[in-house]
Amino acid sequence: MIRRYLFGEPIVDTEGVLDKPNPCMEPIPYFSWKKKEEGICLRCPLEKNAPVYGLGQNVRGINKRGFRYVHFTGSNAQHVDTLASMYGSHNFLVVSGKTMFGVFVDSPGRVTFDIGFTDPDELNIISELDGFEVYLIEGNSLKEIVREFRQLIGQSYIPPKWAFGYQQCRWGYQNSDEIRKVASEMQAAGIPLDSIGLDIDYMDGYKNFTADPENYGDLAELSKELGEQGIRLVPIIDAGTKIEKGNVVYDEGVEKGYFVKDEEGNDFVGAVWPGRCHFPDFLRPEVRDWFGHHYKYLTDMGIEGFWNDMNEPTLFFTNRGLKHTMDVVDEVRDTQLDIKRRRKLIDTVGAMRNNLIDYKSFYHNVDGKKIVHDKVHNLYGYNMARAASEALDDMLPNHRTLVFSRSSCIGLHRYAGIWQGDNQSWWQHILLNMKMMPSLNMCGFLFTGADVGGFHGNTSDDLLIRWLQLAAFTPLMRNHSANSCNRQEPYLFKQKGIMRDMIKIRYMLLPYLYSEFVKCALNGDMMFRPLAFDYPGDKMAVEVEDQVMVGDALMIAPIYTQNANGRYVYLPEDMVAIRLSSPEEREYISMEKGHHYISAELNQMVFFLRKDKMITLGEPAANTEHMNFQNIEVLCNVETESCYSFYDDDGFTKDYENPEHYTTICVARDANGELSLKTSNLEVNIKVTDVTSKNK
Ligand code: GLC
Repeated sequence: MIRRYLFGEPIVDTEGVLDKPNPCMEPIPYFSWKKKEEGICLRCPLEKNAPVYGLGQNVRGINKRGFRYVHFTGSNAQHVDTLASMYGSHNFLVVSGKTMFGVFVDSPGRVTFDIGFTDPDELNIISELDGFEVYLIEGNSLKEIVREFRQLIGQSYIPPKWAFGYQQCRWGYQNSDEIRKVASEMQAAGIPLDSIGLDIDYMDGYKNFTADPENYGDLAELSKELGEQGIRLVPIIDAGTKIEKGNVVYDEGVEKGYFVKDEEGNDFVGAVWPGRCHFPDFLRPEVRDWFGHHYKYLTDMGIEGFWNDMNEPTLFFTNRGLKHTMDVVDEVRDTQLDIKRRRKLIDTVGAMRNNLIDYKSFYHNVDGKKIVHDKVHNLYGYNMARAASEALDDMLPNHRTLVFSRSSCIGLHRYAGIWQGDNQSWWQHILLNMKMMPSLNMCGFLFTGADVGGFHGNTSDDLLIRWLQLAAFTPLMRNHSANSCNRQEPYLFKQKGIMRDMIKIRYMLLPYLYSEFVKCALNGDMMFRPLAFDYPGDKMAVEVEDQVMVGDALMIAPIYTQNANGRYVYLPEDMVAIRLSSPEEREYISMEKGHHYISAELNQMVFFLRKDKMITLGEPAANTEHMNFQNIEVLCNVETESCYSFYDDDGFTKDYENPEHYTTICVARDANGELSLKTSNLEVNIKVTDVTSKNK
């Protein structure tokens, strides 16, 4: 059951929820509330040890209890335990325990979730804005509460099938020949590849919808050439528009009055990569329409994948911040720079970036109302990526495109995916990558993943290999790195053979992953789940923070510790461990419910198949274009009988609901102990592999 509560008068409709139930007039259950200096505070006691799940993109645990998270989209690349805000604002959580409920705080502004941090026995939710909405969701299980919430916020974005292939990216590819080289080196090393990301280097002077004439002058040919090999380009688009006469987006935006305004009504100025920029007012439908149709420049080249960046929006500096900094420089220049002055200088320089004073100094025009940015801050990236998605739908109807964004808010999940931002080549970021998956899935973000190998910092063979072993399951599998660190393409490493085999395993898993992904999107389910969601009565499972369920049939327990040749795993039921060093080299190990140490050398990846479940596997190929999901192997851990609903489609049109996309695969054990197969679709060729121990 979902109930909606109105607090004050919301300043704008976030469009997080499209179909709103009528508001309830009774007081909100579970919570008491008070107006405080920081905003409206909703307070609720927490049962001892009861976990709290959700909040999407954030640091720390799957169980979010014990920290104070502040949802005000930011771009801090230090994803450490004390980071309160990341790039997304995903205000949905579920309180578990004897009483279980979900809460969604629908607000475009800053919302703080103090989950047993200030007071270990309390949840305090503080909305800085007086006007906001709260949805209270009750159900009989964690899964049911999430499903209800997901139905409320609408169907999650489904990208084209090729977007599930391996993506190679790097900030710093200098020219189109370097891109060609990445493709050919990957091919020479026998590593599957579906797309190559183009970072800001491809643009002319960091202007959106341009290509550097000298280095990327042949972008259209490049796209065509690679397209013929089944490899797509995925260029970046940034939020800021360079202030430069002749820059079409700048000229048109100024003329039409489409940029956000400063106090005086002039186009607001803030700096990003090109230096001083204006920022489209993406909250306005006509601005989204205008900006979105500029993607035509790239779609005309056959490009159908895009990433949207710096859309928190990140402001490196404003004229105000710069002037203030220069004043401080002058003030301390001729001093001895003692500790206080030195600190002041450093802090002032640091505070130029993403400063709240600046976010309070520009305005949107929403339905003719002038609205100061900081009150609707969390909607900016959402509406930037929505601009792309809406216009691409218009330009390429019934055709799926890849769009993923850095900043987001609930609502964007209907239009695009997100990546987890500028992480580091740290072992603990493998774990963070995994932990964020279920929380993001709860909030509707299914198409997500992290920069594999880590964005900042130098990666090593073993780190990249272990990361690939996790990323083999994440819908977005993109290796991306910063221009300041060592290169990270797998073919450059000594152990590239292992990396190739891990990426091939990803392709082998694709028929299962794609099937599970689309079904979860259509049904409002989570593809990645904490163990507690599947085994709520199992106290041990509820505390597990480094294993998750993936789809209907699998549990993963990635290795995220350097020099480890295995790890401890908790099995909440009997399962078969599948240990692979390539798609062909497999071992099936039956394991009983309980604690185990499972060994997995660096070249071995392990995952676990649940009892009476099966997964669909394919034959890896150079890329998804060359894969045939009509020939599959079904890996079964089935004692008596079981059925699986296998989803597949052409991968690019939007006819998702067509019943022809589902094949029911049933296996049953006959009197001789052999598995027999029944399928609803004879066009899918199925080979059954029996991994059930008792019967082999
Ligand atoms: C931001 C993005 C990163 C990108 C860089 C340069 O830091 O998060 O992915 O490589 O900008 O465009």
